[in-house]
Amino acid sequence: MNLTTSVNNQIFGSAQCPGDKSISQRVLMVGALMNQEMKVDGFLHGEDPLSTMNALNQIGAGITVDESGLIYLHKRKQIFDNCEQALYFGNSGTGLRLMLGLTSGMGLNLSFCGDASLSSRPMSRVINPLIEMGADIKSSNGKLPISLSPASFQKRYTYELPVASAQVKSSILLAGLASGIGIKIIEPIQTRDHTERMLKNFGANLEITLQDSKNVIQLSPSNNLQAKDYTVVGDISSAAFLIVAALISNSSGLEITNVGMNPSRTGVLVALKKMGANIEVKNQRLESGEPCADLEVKRSILRGVELSGEIIPNIIDEIPILSIAAAFADGETLIRDAAELRVKESDRLKAISDGFGSLGIIHKNFEDGMSIIGNSNMLSIKQPTFLESHDDHRIAMSFLIAGLKCSKPITVKDCNNIFTSFPNFIELISSIGYKLEK
Ligand code: S3P
Repeated sequence: MNLTTSVNNQIFGSAQCPGDKSISQRVLMVGALMNQEMKVDGFLHGEDPLSTMNALNQIGAGITVDESGLIYLHKRKQIFDNCEQALYFGNSGTGLRLMLGLTSGMGLNLSFCGDASLSSRPMSRVINPLIEMGADIKSSNGKLPISLSPASFQKRYTYELPVASAQVKSSILLAGLASGIGIKIIEPIQTRDHTERMLKNFGANLEITLQDSKNVIQLSPSNNLQAKDYTVVGDISSAAFLIVAALISNSSGLEITNVGMNPSRTGVLVALKKMGANIEVKNQRLESGEPCADLEVKRSILRGVELSGEIIPNIIDEIPILSIAAAFADGETLIRDAAELRVKESDRLKAISDGFGSLGIIHKNFEDGMSIIGNSNMLSIKQPTFLESHDDHRIAMSFLIAGLKCSKPITVKDCNNIFTSFPNFIELISSIGYKLEK
């Protein structure tokens, strides 16, 4: 599905932020592992969490969904079963990496596969520590296809994260939880802490301390988790597209409700405010252990900033849309220390640069980032302009938002990937004033 933008749009009104993708995946896995009755509200019915749900159901989780989208986890006779057919994770790095931890901790006999993008992404970052814990995992040079055989784990495991990755941290924690061994993770740079918050929410014996300015996360082997109904907060990574839309367009102001405000995810607001964005945070509250709020966004003239160092893991998924904000901000934005973007759903630094090239946005590439010379005026472009989505949902949505500041419609090719994280993107963006044509 190609999507074509329209011109002279004004963003206005109110939009409800869709459920958080990271949290939706985690609540299915932790919920299924607890093996108790539980209801989940606010779940993201995107392709990524749904492929995790299918995989869990393939191994006997028996998760059900009602007509209103509520998720039900059930108590079963046996927690999980082996399965002969490979578990398919589609595009979802989080689904695959976290499930590798969970299922190896359970000592299951399984194989794993995914789409072309997922099959090209590095998995040794989780396979290596899991093998050190005792797991028996075979891969194709650290990539899919992967197979898992039952094995016994050591009693305790300590690991210092060599890459700032919440997926690696969570995979090890889930392996520890499933196998019942003690885990100590040393995290030099803070990454999203949804797994830790969720485990604490269900009563796990998890302690986080700061030692030599590193996070030390300790999960003790004696865990007696108690299920309770869970509400998934909205995904700030999805809200970021709406926020930037309201900031750069001829907007009369946009309210975005139900936005997850976990401090390990709100770097995008810090970055945008540094750029001069007018964003007001209202009705701050806590849902199932996760902070959440409503945002009021007003059209703003943005300026370039430097984004590097410790903020990068916090804004890792928002860099594509922040680069669009930067392209329409006056002056230079410098992004460094973001080489991780090269191993996301696509090589995102290359994908952004290719799109900028087609739109004539001045930029310079580095191995770990880019420099963008922005301009807050409407971008004058030649028609027809076709951009590649690089099979990456965040690249597709970022360039569709850029269309708000283009003098003529642009077309982003192959946008089906948007359904992985933001299934109602087209309808929602249209309800706040921006029509996209199929
Ligand atoms: C995620 C963590 C991040 C992020 C991804 C979701 C998670 O990846 O980019 O979209 O749910 O834990 P890394 O942990 O690999 O940085």
